Amino acid sequence: MKILVLNGPNLNLLGTREPAIYGHTTLADIEADCIAHGQSLGFEVTCAQSNHEGALIDHLHAARGVISGVVLNAGAYTHTSVALRDAITASELPVVELHLSNTHARESFRHVSLIAPVCVGGIQGFGARGYRLALQALRFHLGPDPA
Ligand code: DQA
Repeated sequence: MKILVLNGPNLNLLGTREPAIYGHTTLADIEADCIAHGQSLGFEVTCAQSNHEGALIDHLHAARGVISGVVLNAGAYTHTSVALRDAITASELPVVELHLSNTHARESFRHVSLIAPVCVGGIQGFGARGYRLALQALRFHLGPDPA
């Protein structure tokens, strides 16, 4: 089963960007861990990151019919993008919403997620380890590895 781990704006700076909030783990480290942990769950994980809303939408369109599930950290587009929400719906894929930080414990504008209602569920507040939890959630959602 193929899984896409998709990261949005500013997440390319993980490790150096506001480490008190987002931790010291780099995106490259997270992606390597997702690939390795995904393998142990029977997943073939591919990773992508973009700072551009349209590019994230393109990734979701390309995943349609090809990928079994998506872990999505949409960054700030979580709180603003109707287009991204529509792309999740259009993808007809199970998407797990992921945030490193607990957005509900932060500024009020981060309390709203436009994408949450069209995702199967969400993981937030567990830092970089949350990506493993999100992959496990997808494994649970998709059912046991047939292999
Ligand atoms: C984030 C939370 C968002 O509010 C923020 O804009 C991000 C990162 C997180 O992983 O905690 O860029 O998605």
